[in-house]
Amino acid sequence: MPAVVVVGTQWGDEGKGKATDQFGQNVDYVVKFNGGNNAGHTVVIDGEKFAFHLLPAGVLTPGVTPVIGNGVVVDLDVLFQEIAEIESRGKDASSLLISANAHLIPSYNRVLDRTTERFLGSRQLGTTGRGIGPTYADKMNRIGLRVQDLFDESILRQKVHAALDNKNSLFLKVFNRPAIDPDEVADELLSYADRVRPMVVDCSLLLNKALDEGKTVLFEAGQATMLDIDHGTYPFVTSSNPTSGGACTGTGVGPTRIDAVVGVVKAYTTRVGEGPFPTELNDEMGERLREEGGEYGVTTGRPRRCGWHDAVITRYAARVNGLTDLVMTKLDVLTGHEQIPVCVAYDVDGQRMDEMPLTQTDFHHAIPVYEYLPGWSEDISTARTFDDLPKAAQDYVLRIEELAGCRISAIGVGPGREATIQRHALLGD
Ligand code: IMP
Repeated sequence: MPAVVVVGTQWGDEGKGKATDQFGQNVDYVVKFNGGNNAGHTVVIDGEKFAFHLLPAGVLTPGVTPVIGNGVVVDLDVLFQEIAEIESRGKDASSLLISANAHLIPSYNRVLDRTTERFLGSRQLGTTGRGIGPTYADKMNRIGLRVQDLFDESILRQKVHAALDNKNSLFLKVFNRPAIDPDEVADELLSYADRVRPMVVDCSLLLNKALDEGKTVLFEAGQATMLDIDHGTYPFVTSSNPTSGGACTGTGVGPTRIDAVVGVVKAYTTRVGEGPFPTELNDEMGERLREEGGEYGVTTGRPRRCGWHDAVITRYAARVNGLTDLVMTKLDVLTGHEQIPVCVAYDVDGQRMDEMPLTQTDFHHAIPVYEYLPGWSEDISTARTFDDLPKAAQDYVLRIEELAGCRISAIGVGPGREATIQRHALLGD
């Protein structure tokens, strides 16, 4: 099965890093297609924990070529910090490739992101402050900077001057901040040019050729379905398309070439940042899930908001991504509950809704309709086959599979690579 897309089905942090890294054993290319260093993957290998923000998770797997696609926004400072960190721990990042069309996050967009959030006050979105939104806005406004601009100094300087013409008026007149010197920004970006040059590729050509040769390519989404700019809980979303269609636009590989779309889903639900979250638990139970699940952000360290599994969202994600498989993570975290509620529909102003409401207003008013499934108390972290799981844990998985309308092909029962139950082969092997 040569082209597989991996997406998050909820609000991020479902454990895509571990899932992607696991596939990485059997694939030739791992391609990140959206987002930037707002992402956070944790991968545990031989008991050692690695946290990535920008680099594709597959960068750790020998024999895998990691690629940053054109749909990604790249902070060069972060990129080289992560490469240095990996190399200082004895791993190799030298095979990394970057699309010539990927956009760069200039320092002024980090400033703009944070200043805008502060300016919004109580209406803020809770962004990661990494300059993601302003950089995608520049891309759409056609005033963005691309990786290829690093190799033409005069073009790069012109583009930085053009972008800052507007932004400096905003900084000075609206935000009451000092203006930013365009030449300083250009100098900083250009200082990376020689190190970036050997990594730059035509991402579309590279991947299509690889697929022609029968190689396996894994497309790795940053963030998740409910943070998608089109299909998520707008405006409380990120500024890119983490859904499966983004794998095509973000790399230059057409939809007819994609063989499988795997959605990663946590056994319960978490969210960071602001925005609606119907099954959120603002009580001791929410605190318990956060502590037992270690739910603190990899990128910002923020405590994650926690709640029960929302199967309406999982079914929605199955639809908008065209999922072929689900991978469920962190089932072990649910051990020790007498009953486990699963949201099967919403009550919106007295009316039952089985699908995602049409409007933002209805979603903000959605009250979960719960079904209560029996819990289990046995330690499941050593289970390696579905039959090793207690009956109640099996039933929990099977009920979510039924509600989602998509098979659950693998189940994570602990943080390590080995703590996984495989029910169906994901790469056709
Ligand atoms: P931005 O992507 O920094 O613009 O942030 C927009 C929203 O997406 C905020 O609510 C962030 O907390 C959220 N977000 C961005 N990246 C991630 C991620 O990798 N996991 C979870 N939430 C994220």
